[in-house]
Amino acid sequence: MPETVLVTGGAGFIGSHTCVELLAHGYEVVVVDNHVNSSPHALERIAKTAGRPLAAAYRVDVRDRLALAQVFTTHQVDAVIHFAAHKAVGESVALPVEYYDTNVGGTCALLSVMHEHAVRRLVFSSSCSVYGDARTVPLTEQSPVAPTNPYARTKLTCERILEDVCAHLTDMKVLALRYFNPVGAHPGGLLGEDPQGIPNNVMPYVAQVAVGRRERLSVFGDDYPTPDGTGVRDYIHVMDVAEGHRVALQHLDDRTGMRVFNLGTGTGTSVLQLVAAFGEASGRPIPYQVVDRRPGDVAELVADASAVADAWEWTTTRDLAAMCRDAWRFQELNPHGYAH
Ligand code: NAD
Ligand code: WQD
Repeated sequence: MPETVLVTGGAGFIGSHTCVELLAHGYEVVVVDNHVNSSPHALERIAKTAGRPLAAAYRVDVRDRLALAQVFTTHQVDAVIHFAAHKAVGESVALPVEYYDTNVGGTCALLSVMHEHAVRRLVFSSSCSVYGDARTVPLTEQSPVAPTNPYARTKLTCERILEDVCAHLTDMKVLALRYFNPVGAHPGGLLGEDPQGIPNNVMPYVAQVAVGRRERLSVFGDDYPTPDGTGVRDYIHVMDVAEGHRVALQHLDDRTGMRVFNLGTGTGTSVLQLVAAFGEASGRPIPYQVVDRRPGDVAELVADASAVADAWEWTTTRDLAAMCRDAWRFQELNPHGYAH
């Protein structure tokens, strides 16, 4: 019998790519998403890209325990991957209650329904933002955590809750993955990042400049203590993130309890290096202007990716050129995202 995996937030950017990866490896996949930040069209595109359908997809809010319980009654769920959350740092400052409600409340609702249905295996989406303003890079899982905004605090709060739950329910198996900066798209061109409104993140913004939807990129500061003065991040191809989740599922049973892993490449890239790589991949120069620093930004965030490599004998394989090439292919083929 193939394993059935419930994917919350499965229509979103990382969730949709992970669904494809799981389908391609024989898993039965059930999606729960309220589409607050995703298009239901993504679901058709997942099936088309994978060449086989999802077992089911439900428009359900993860905070709705009754509706969630119905899903667990209908399907024999073997493991859960919990992506559903709000993720915009700036918005979290303006809407902290909404962020705690969805991110922490949603996780609590999910955990209680999992408990009622004796589902003990969970992969949780955490974030490198829990580290805050890193004093030393690369960041290991033992580096101090010091989140600097409500979004990051919701993620750290969820990690704490999961630790407490695992201390109590000693047969729970939880992996919290702290992603660095996921970018790129499925190479098939049907799935990618489709942010609503003006993109907050650099890669989708650059892609929209390249396709002519935006005039130029604003580079937020060139006076950071980095080689070219612009912010350095650990960009990771979303297909590597997706693959990482499949491998995580295979390692859930290694031991009981809660474990935390970075999901990054270990390579830092500056904003100007990203701009150059995207220009190369798209064959179009990316106009930009340097403006003031964005409040709350940090100079450099790069993962030490060795813990995952040691524990799972797995590393990321896709480089910056592949990230830009695949993001560009999706942008060029879908200049208005999933809008039909
Ligand atoms: P996304 O917004 O594209 O996907 C999240 C999905 O969850 C969306 O489809 C949205 O509709 C759904 N959702 C939100 N609230 C929900 C609710 N109450 N009930 C049901 N569904 C709900 O975001 P993403 O980039 O795919 O991120 C996935 C996860 O990874 C999030 O938990 C995010 O915090 C985390 N993460 C993302 C990044 C990143 O840079 N993209 C980095 C680190 C961690
Ligand atoms: C990257 C670099 C900017 C936009 C965010 C979240 C973090 C995590 C990953 C969820 C920085 C610069 C950006 C622009 C720019 N998400 N930049 N012009 O801020 O590292 O991380 O996504 O967990 O929590 O904060 O990503 O893509 O916004 O910025 O110059 O228009 O690009 O200053 O150096 P960030 P980002």
